[in-house]
Amino acid sequence: MPVSTESKRNRACAALMKQVRAILDGEGPTPSSLHAIKLKLVALAKRVELFPLSDFEMPVSQGRNIPLLLEENDGHGLYLTINLPGKEAAPHDHGIWCVNAAVSGEEKHEFYRRTDENSPPGQATVVKTGEVIVRPGQGMAMADHDIHSNIVIGDVPAIGLALYGYAIARFPGVIWYHPEFGSTRASPSRRLAA
Ligand SMILES: [Fe+2]
Repeated sequence: MPVSTESKRNRACAALMKQVRAILDGEGPTPSSLHAIKLKLVALAKRVELFPLSDFEMPVSQGRNIPLLLEENDGHGLYLTINLPGKEAAPHDHGIWCVNAAVSGEEKHEFYRRTDENSPPGQATVVKTGEVIVRPGQGMAMADHDIHSNIVIGDVPAIGLALYGYAIARFPGVIWYHPEFGSTRASPSRRLAA
């Protein structure tokens, strides 16, 4: 009996997660281990035959994160992300590391650094430190408190793989930054509720 794309995909995702565990067990989420994980995720995303769009529901607007593999016991979450042209997110900090790789399309990530100290709640200043365009063959990795913004560029959806230190349903509070106003706001943590 021929093996379905879904079981091939599930097998490949499980193999990736095993490699990720082996990398992190050695040294934790350091810049070099996250870089190594990024290369693994880029390699998986290059296997476009595992991610036919016919297997996934397109978002009606904005974007959609489709779980591919969620580890048990508060483990990592691997998602297929579909973001429509123009979909954007203001600078934010997930509180947990993440690694992205593109299957198709292009998404620009800009990275920021906080420049204030001990600001009153709700206030913060950030400065842009760099950017990367995540396109096929290219990925990006962020540490626990790195800050990024993202926008889909071009006129086709950006399809990608996203691996997070926690499943999205168990995310810590996300902190959003508004550079033009010097303000910040936090969305509540899902760590206790989930
Ligand atoms: Fe993000």
